[in-house]
Amino acid sequence: MLETLPAGPLTREIIDTHIRPLFLRVLKRDEIYLANHSLGRPLDQLAADMQRFVDPWYADMDDCWGPWLAEQNHFRASIASLLGLSRADCVVPKTSAGQGLRAVLNACREDEPQIVATRGEFDSCDFILKTYRVRGRAAVAFVEPDASGMIHADAVIESISPKTSLVLLSQIFYSTGQVLEEIPRICARAHECGAVVILDCYHSFGVIPIDIAALGIDFAIGGSYKYTRGGPGACWLAISPEIVDRGHARLAPTLDTGWFAKLDAFAYQRPEIPHRAAGGDSWLESTPPIATMYQARSGLDFTRAIGIDRLRAHNLAQQARLAQLLSDAGIPILDHQPRGAFLRVPHADTNVLVQRLKTNKVNTDTRLGTVRLCPDILTTDEELVRAVAIIKACL
Ligand SMILES: Cc1ncc(COP(=O)(O)O)c(C=O)c1O
Repeated sequence: MLETLPAGPLTREIIDTHIRPLFLRVLKRDEIYLANHSLGRPLDQLAADMQRFVDPWYADMDDCWGPWLAEQNHFRASIASLLGLSRADCVVPKTSAGQGLRAVLNACREDEPQIVATRGEFDSCDFILKTYRVRGRAAVAFVEPDASGMIHADAVIESISPKTSLVLLSQIFYSTGQVLEEIPRICARAHECGAVVILDCYHSFGVIPIDIAALGIDFAIGGSYKYTRGGPGACWLAISPEIVDRGHARLAPTLDTGWFAKLDAFAYQRPEIPHRAAGGDSWLESTPPIATMYQARSGLDFTRAIGIDRLRAHNLAQQARLAQLLSDAGIPILDHQPRGAFLRVPHADTNVLVQRLKTNKVNTDTRLGTVRLCPDILTTDEELVRAVAIIKACL
């Protein structure tokens, strides 16, 4: 169906004809799903792909490693293409974004690297950094948001000094949906100081175009369970070709390693000084999780077939419509530009509100005193109208 997808904006007719039929299972649910920023809706194809994972295992036992490793290559190439990378080896499969962050932390030469991160990083990264700090394995300076919760490039830049080894930033902040602008300017300052920059793309991957080279970042981390509809565990660390090929003064081979990072894993050689694979494969680690690559395929193929620009344009139009409907209903939103894929409604007791909405078949979630509302390509205009009426009744 996607092979015959017409070019141009995603009209209702195109969505009804070419897109909704790919999601028949999840569309059976009787609710308005506005938690797409949390767990993305899976294609029907996902179940068939999981079947393709197990079939060769039953039928061929250890010969299944051929198709399994081919699937890993497909995963790496798909992520690379969505990040503007021409090399699949620059993508290292991980089972969480945090694991990607730890791989970089565990590459730092210094015993206690100085890290600049923002207060807006997701709990996983925040928790990892604080754990490293408590163990004396990192010194972390957190960049604070302004009174409205926004994080500014200038504040990040001011925190970076020649002592900084690593800068961790989200491209879109998980709690506010703020798109961090001027990342190239932050990277320029970090590089001037000899630091590397890691970008957390969990809330931007599948939402806005990402080009690692244009942004100037050294590493990116992300995963599939939100906007690319691939469920948990299908995550990655992406490394700029520059770092892969030339390394970095502050980085040594990461301690997060294993036999898949060996020069020839299947030669079973065990020299006293480990011989690492060439290129990005030197960042691989132990036996890869394989099932997650199958799990991620349909969502990645879907995202690439439609194209980020079209998905973004459609989502922005939906958000504008939702904002207008909320405003007409007298419901305030926390507005700021540019925004990621969701918008936020403040409320004094969001937990109660979210529960009440769920009882009334509107599925949302909450962060920091706001309800996050995220339509996706399957969300119809009638659903937006109905959701706003229900929100108004539940407030
Ligand atoms: C910005 C961001 N980073 C990372 C994650 C997930 O981190 P991990 O894969 O380490 O659990 C999330 C999940 O919501 C997120 O929003």
